[in-house]
Amino acid sequence: MKDQLTALEAAAARAAAEANGELDLQQVRVRFLGKKGELTAIMKMMGALPAEQRPIVGALANEVKDRLEGLFNDRLESLRAAELQRRLAAERVDVTLPGRRLRQGSKHPVTQVTEEIVTIFASLGFGVAEGPEVEHDFYNFEALNIPRDHPARDMQDTFYVSEDVVLRTHTSPVQVRTMLKQAPPVRVVAPGTVYRRDSDITHSPMFHQIEGFLVDRHVTFGDLKGILTTFINEYFGAGTGVRFRPSFFPFTEPSAEVDIQCVICGGDGCRVCKNSGWLEILGSGMIDPEVFRAVGYDPEVYTGFAFGMGIERIAMLKYGVNDLRLFYENDLRFLRQF
Ligand code: PHE
Repeated sequence: MKDQLTALEAAAARAAAEANGELDLQQVRVRFLGKKGELTAIMKMMGALPAEQRPIVGALANEVKDRLEGLFNDRLESLRAAELQRRLAAERVDVTLPGRRLRQGSKHPVTQVTEEIVTIFASLGFGVAEGPEVEHDFYNFEALNIPRDHPARDMQDTFYVSEDVVLRTHTSPVQVRTMLKQAPPVRVVAPGTVYRRDSDITHSPMFHQIEGFLVDRHVTFGDLKGILTTFINEYFGAGTGVRFRPSFFPFTEPSAEVDIQCVICGGDGCRVCKNSGWLEILGSGMIDPEVFRAVGYDPEVYTGFAFGMGIERIAMLKYGVNDLRLFYENDLRFLRQF
């Protein structure tokens, strides 16, 4: 029985050394030291030994058991240490690699252009006003001398919310709202979103305008020309050619559209200016006495001018963008260029 114990100890030690993982070692432990294991089996046979031999063999068996337990625990430690080393090697992180950068966002080009234009007018003494995008017919049309049967009111051009409520088709209703709230003099620009039922490479159903108007005693068409020419020279560069062309708007009289010398070809003629050398950038005029009457200003005392321009159009001309839809696609390759 002594020999059996010695052989068992040697076999167990070998098996433990060969175990190549925690689970493997667990099975070896069960096989030798478990309740139904080989050492237990030997100990059960001790009853058959002569009485004087039993304590000796029993003590020996306990020693073997203790030694094996110690051995298995050591082996477990070293297997765990080896596993840790393996994982440390496999999951190594190179802390010297550059990190992943968060790219910084920037203002949308439409916002940038709006801010630049507002800044120029602010330096000329203009304040900033805003109005709602869902607007009453009264402010969008009626008070601006746009009669019931005017084509601009057609369902073809205007988004109707209800019979009397529209998505504003221009920023001009802010003129009406401002003048109803305050007495002259007024000097205000009003940037904002407007809506029209129109969609192609140069028209979007949603776009942006900036309105400007000035009312006081003795305001003349010369003041309108002076302010707009100053703005154009600031924004497009000193010496940019400017031309005022007679036009018509129901809420201004007289009215003028303003052209600038083509910023692409310098006036020689190209595809963008359709070989004319000129680009239309805004509508303007002297505020119609009918509008003053609608807001309670005395047209015998006050005169004023107003203008409105499309911001996307200005941005397209300034940056040479040839498709309006690029502004709304949120393509970072486009937006990062501004
Ligand atoms: N509201 C006009 C438009 O949308 C522009 C304009 C504004 C013209 C002010 C004259 C005066 O086309």
